[in-house]
This record gives sequence, C-alpha cells and structure tokens, in this order.
Amino acid sequence: KDDLIILGIETSCDDTAAAVVRGNGEILSQVVSSQVKIAFISLYYVKADLLAKYGGVAPKMAEEAHSLAIDPVVQEALHKANLTERDLSAVAVTIGPGLSLCLRVGVQKARKIAGQFNLPIVGVHHMEAHALVARQWLTMTRMQNDFLDLFNNIHIGQKDTSGHNLLVLAHNLGQYTQLGTTIDDAIGEAFDKTAKWLGLDMRRSGGPAVEKLALEGDAESVKFSTPMKQHKDCNFSYAGLKTQVRLAIESKNINVGKYSNITVFPVPIFVLLMTTLGAKWAFQRVAVLHLEERCERAIEWALKIEPSIKHLVVSGGVASNKYVRARLDRAVKNNSLQLVCPPPSLCTDNGVMVAWTGIEHFCVGRFDPPPPADDPEDFM
Ligand code: KG4
Ligand code: ZN
Repeated sequence: KDDLIILGIETSCDDTAAAVVRGNGEILSQVVSSQVKIAFISLYYVKADLLAKYGGVAPKMAEEAHSLAIDPVVQEALHKANLTERDLSAVAVTIGPGLSLCLRVGVQKARKIAGQFNLPIVGVHHMEAHALVARQWLTMTRMQNDFLDLFNNIHIGQKDTSGHNLLVLAHNLGQYTQLGTTIDDAIGEAFDKTAKWLGLDMRRSGGPAVEKLALEGDAESVKFSTPMKQHKDCNFSYAGLKTQVRLAIESKNINVGKYSNITVFPVPIFVLLMTTLGAKWAFQRVAVLHLEERCERAIEWALKIEPSIKHLVVSGGVASNKYVRARLDRAVKNNSLQLVCPPPSLCTDNGVMVAWTGIEHFCVGRFDPPPPADDPEDFM
C-alpha cells in the first residue's frame, strides 16, 4: 500500500484542485488554482465579480476558469511531487455531486491522463471525500495508528447546485446510514448570501468574510428564530433563516453593498459595517445553533445504532469556521465523544481528499480499467 501513488483531481465547484498522495497518507503535493501563478489573473477578477454579483458560483464562468486552470494545476501538482504521470498508480477524480459543466473538465482531464499512461481510474463522490480525508489526517497526525474502524461524519458547507449538509453514520467504506440531509438551503449558502446582502468582500467565498466580522457584536440587537425547532429530526433548513436575514437588512435599510466598492470613503463604510455587526453575529449564532442541535440529535440517534462510536467528524468549507468548531466541540464533549476536524486546507475543496478517497477505494478493488488511449472527447 505504501507504494501506491495516486493523483486526485477536484473540479466540482469553483476551485480547480489537484494533489498527489501516497498510499500511506503522505501528501506529496497539493495545489489549488488560486495558488498557481497562471496568466489568467484577469479571469479570476471576472470570476470574483460574478461571485460577488450572484453571491454564488456562475457555472459557465466556473467551467471556463477550470478549463484554463486544469492543465497548469495538474502539472504543478506532479512537478511539486517530483513525479511524472509514469510514476502514478492511478488517477482519482470527483464525479459528483457538483456542477456538471465543472465536473466534466476534471473527468476529461483524468481520463486523458489515464488513457495516455494506461492507468486505472477511480470515480470519487465529493461528500465521501470530505468525510474520508479525516482518516488521512488522523493517520498522518498519528492520533490513530490505523484508520478509524467506525466514525460518523457530518459534512457541512457545500454550496453548489446539488450542495447540501449531510449527517451520516459511517459503518465502513461505502456503508453509510444517512441521519439527516438538507431540505432546502445549506449552511454555506446562507453564509454566502448573508455576505452578499451585506456587501462584504466575496472574492473567495462569503463564509470567511462573515466569520471575520461576526466575531464581536451584540447578538441580541437582531432576533432570528432557530430553524425547524418543532421538527425533532436531523435535517437542515437554512432557507427561512436566509429570508430572516434579508428582511432584517432591508428593514434596517442597511445597504453596505452600495458602498463596498468605494474605497475612498472608508469612514462611512466602517460606520455601516458597525451597524450590521449585530445582524452578522446574530446570523452566525443562529446558523450554528441549528447545526449544533442537529448534530446533538444525530449523536443520540447514532449511539442507539452503534453504541461504540467515538468520533464526530466535521468537514467541508464551513468546518473551517472557528465558531463552528468551538460550538461543535462543546456539543461533542457533552456526549463524551471526540471532535475530529481536519485543518482548513483539507476542509475546503481540495485534491488531497479526492486522492485519498481514491486510495481507499483502489485498495479494496473499486476502480475502473484504463480508458482507451483514443478516448472520445465527448464521452459523458
Ligand atoms: O466544501 P466547500 O469548500 O465547497 C463546496 O463543496 O461547495 O464549501 C464552500 C462553502 C462556501 O459556502 C463558503 O462560504 C463556506 O464553505 N465557508 C465558510 C468558511 N469558509 C468557507 N463558512 C463559514 N465560515 C468560514 N470560515
Ligand atoms: Zn465541498
């Protein structure tokens, strides 16, 4: 297993990412498009503008950005690992869920390499990758000598079209009991829209911008009700909270967006931001409270199914939020479990999680044979 070397490719949303990982979990390289100095800076600005405008990912733009970035990103990943395609054992690629136009770019690249160099190919589920990367991280940080036999996982923060929050009890590789899912919007989407309506800088995504400004503030200045209080299940709903935030902002006539680009007037912007601090803090508090409630119930349910569980794994973009981590840590400790939360670079979309999930599946014989070298371009 230590001899295995797998390239992982991730293009499901707006980040083009690739990584090379060894069978024992060692990360040989990790590249995300935003780190690669490619001559498409202007394109990234266009993308950033679109992100800010729509408060989300514009599929066609994202596809174009992926198409431009995919070759340099993969090349950089191999280069950093000091390897060529010939050294690889297999190629792993995210096949869903995600934006189909974007997924296609990654899959085409993976099939091209696999066909050319006669390599097996592993199709990876994005959510499973978010979950399983915790095992790679645990293996590497030696918190655990071997993989966890059993863990339950919550993935939070997916924001693409099929994006959701998912709570699953993981029995084994590929064997999961779903405890809860998203019935409308995911928490990441709510963070993104809140940032958009408050006119915050969305160049990367809305979550970090809200987190930065929500650290301090008077949570009582705006009252939001916690979603689905009356539903005693583990499902998530953020559409109602989103509406509450929008109405609060509209009723207070807080339009930071109008001013956010005018850098020559920092003082008014500052004053406006101060008045909206309450909304952000109250939003983050209630959003995370909903998450906490669902996780606590999920732990209760999971313990009934598997009394031996020891960990709650939290992953996905929103899991890089410090307040989320702190609150979930508290909830988990109340139940004498341990919170496992990989570092932010492994929580947001990345190539390592794909390569690692590829390794896990490859080792139990779940992979496809190499595609023909003259693979038709339009196979999907
Ligand atoms: O898993 P991810 O990187 O991408 C998808 O699979 O879509 O998650 C992205 C989401 C975005 O909605 C982003 O706003 C959110 O994760 N996010 C955060 C933070 N960092 C990223 N939300 C709250 N606080 C953060 N620090
Ligand atoms: Zn993701």
